[in-house]
Amino acid sequence: MNSNETQNMQFALLNQQLQMLLEGETNPITNMSQFAALVFDGLADVNWAGFYLNMDGEGLKLGPFQGLIACTNIPIGKGVVGHVAQTRKAIVVPDIEEFPGHIVCDSRSRSEVVCPIIVENEVIGVFDIDSPSKKRFTSTDLMGVETLIESLVSRTNWDRVR
Ligand code: SME
Repeated sequence: MNSNETQNMQFALLNQQLQMLLEGETNPITNMSQFAALVFDGLADVNWAGFYLNMDGEGLKLGPFQGLIACTNIPIGKGVVGHVAQTRKAIVVPDIEEFPGHIVCDSRSRSEVVCPIIVENEVIGVFDIDSPSKKRFTSTDLMGVETLIESLVSRTNWDRVR
C-alpha cells in the first residue's frame, strides 16, 4: 500500500469513528468538541486542532479546540483562517512563514490545513489543524478533512450557532 492509500484508509477509519461518535447527537458545541478531539488524537504530528466560528457576523471567534490556548478573535480575511473564511476554499499551507499575514497563535506551528464550514451556503466558520512539521499536510489530508467536515455538517443542527 502506498502512503496515499494508507492516508485514505486512516481518514476512512476516522470517518467511521466520527459517524459513531455523532450518532443521535445534533448539538453543535458537543459535536464540534468531539470532532476536534477525534482529529487531534487521530492524526499524527499535530499540535492544535479546532474551530473558529463566525457566530455574530463580526469575525471569527475561537470555538471548541484541542491544544494550547489560542487567539480569541480573528477578523475575516486575516491570517490563514480568515483567508479561508473569505475565499470559502480549503487550503494546505506547507510552510506558515511563506503565507503572508499568517497569525501566530501557537509558536510551535509550522504548517496548517484549514477547511471552511459551509451550512446552507453560509460560511459559519472554519476548522484548522496545525503541525509542528513543515509540509506535514498533503492534498490527501485536505480531501480527508473536507470529508470529515461534510459528515459533521450534515449530522449537526447549526441553528444554535447561527
Ligand atoms: N495560524 C492561524 C491562526 C490560528 S492558530 O494557528 C490556532 C492563522 O494564521 O489564521
